Amino acid sequence: MKKIAIFASGGGSNAQEIINHFERNGTVEVALIVSNDTDSGVVVRAETHDIPFYILNKGELEELEFSLVLEALEIDFVVLAGFLKKIPSDIIEMYPNKIVNIHPALLPNYGGKGMYGSNVHKAVVAAREKESGMTIHYVNANYDEGSIIEQHKTELLPTDTAEDCARKVLALEHKFFAICIEKLLN
Ligand code: GRF
Repeated sequence: MKKIAIFASGGGSNAQEIINHFERNGTVEVALIVSNDTDSGVVVRAETHDIPFYILNKGELEELEFSLVLEALEIDFVVLAGFLKKIPSDIIEMYPNKIVNIHPALLPNYGGKGMYGSNVHKAVVAAREKESGMTIHYVNANYDEGSIIEQHKTELLPTDTAEDCARKVLALEHKFFAICIEKLLN
């Protein structure tokens, strides 16, 4: 069975959906959770599901050659689910087309440096977009520029706030991310 590592910095609701999905169908093992923040909700989720986790200290991702940790744990595939640090080149080189990220907008729009979390949804609503959505893409050396694997859209109403937009997009993420990972791995 393929083993994945999930990297997350925030609340980890996407990580939770992925854990639930693969606990249900047993096609993939979530073998490691990595976070750069001790307070990240994803740490509690890992503990609850008995999944090994690793909290990165500042600078450790770059200095530790973390690719060797992933290799030692026989990780086949890396999932970035709200991970805010840049993935160093040793990991990108070791996992060509085997690292995916989820972005809460329709790339190539609203991507790049600084475009994360609520910044994205505020920018989408400020531009009066009629739709937003989510993008799953491969990770390369530049933020949000790896090739797109899947996108899903949601309609925005003129009255929608950034919070409404975030809620609609997150629902799409929860619905499609785990299924996409499963398709890529099987
Ligand atoms: C998601 O919107 C994801 O697209 C973005 O960060 C958010 C993470 O949410 N990269 P969560 O931590 O999975 O709840």
